Amino acid sequence: MNIKEISGGIYYVGVNDRTTQRFEGLWPLPYGVSYNSYIIKSDKNVLVDTVEQSEAGLFIENIEKVLGGKDLDYLVINHMEPDHSGSIVDIVNRYPNVKIVGNALTINMIKGFYRLENSNHYLAVKDGDTINIGDKTLKFIMTPMVHWPETMMTYVCEPAIMFTGDAFGTFGALNGAVIDHEMNTDVYFHEMYRYYSNIVGKYGVHVQKALAKVAGIDIKMICPTHGPVWVEEFARVVELTDKLSKGEAEDGVVIVYGTMYGNTARYAEIAAQRFAENGIKNIKVYNATFAEISDILADIFRYKGLVIGGPTYSANLFPPIEALLKALEVRELKNKALGVFGSYTWASSATKLFHDYSLRLGLPLVSNVEIRQRGSEQNEEDIRMMADNIVHAIKLL
Ligand code: FEO
Repeated sequence: MNIKEISGGIYYVGVNDRTTQRFEGLWPLPYGVSYNSYIIKSDKNVLVDTVEQSEAGLFIENIEKVLGGKDLDYLVINHMEPDHSGSIVDIVNRYPNVKIVGNALTINMIKGFYRLENSNHYLAVKDGDTINIGDKTLKFIMTPMVHWPETMMTYVCEPAIMFTGDAFGTFGALNGAVIDHEMNTDVYFHEMYRYYSNIVGKYGVHVQKALAKVAGIDIKMICPTHGPVWVEEFARVVELTDKLSKGEAEDGVVIVYGTMYGNTARYAEIAAQRFAENGIKNIKVYNATFAEISDILADIFRYKGLVIGGPTYSANLFPPIEALLKALEVRELKNKALGVFGSYTWASSATKLFHDYSLRLGLPLVSNVEIRQRGSEQNEEDIRMMADNIVHAIKLL
């Protein structure tokens, strides 16, 4: 049971999920995930967001304990993805007088997902609207596409707390403590790269808009829907989110290769060795068939250099490499020093297809090395030169 008063009259009532194997059916959860929800107690009692439906039982126990027999007046829905909206019906059943607070898009989605058609359930709010609940006032700030179109943040003026939805969230269940200064946060920062690149990565422009919108607001505590409440490491979390959403990265290189018989793998090894000889310390090498695309995306967002290699396969790209490039295109990857190498046996396609992807990504290729069958000593030298050129290009990013 994870209940904690995080500020005067404001309580964490979220739950941990260490059962779900893949978030959104896609992304591994080696450290679990928390679904955060908060109660604001005053003359009126407010719940901010709910949790995934499978955890509704424990969640309602938490709420009942904090409310101590009092009624729930408002349920604010900052974000409608079902990991946060999944228990809305349970809440309405338990507290039938509750008003669900959301914007027009949110209310439409609740009707679509949960068939709560009765308009008496709802209180619609717009950007900048406020609700006074006694000694506290809630202000609603629309932040569309962080991560869905209806997403908004809720600000509680008096203790200067922002409930931010998915923004500043991260994977990893909460292991007892809730606020950052009560725990070792290393795992959450490690997981933040994965969370951002996997889930929110496509929406960097919108994250930037949201950051600009809240920049002038006095905020002392960030309460996201996943991961720790940020107080002490507030600035670090905001800075990391700002960098990732702008496409700013660290010095380092990711090498991803696909291989059937080990030939392209050889060239990946040659590239890695050359980067090391050039003094690059952060070098991540992934075999795309076996590595989790989730981890690959996280490191690609994290580092400036990127090398992708793979064979021609039935006149197309090797399928795991194609899937990765598609994922990068969806996320509108930017600011990378990109080199590729493609191999073939009797008809080359990979080289042209890599070139086409680089155009669609808007990332010029530092090198595009074409390898026939096992390749040649010249190919090995070309790969070393590609590594040298990427090291040079990284310095300019
Ligand atoms: Fe944690 Fe976009 O849901």
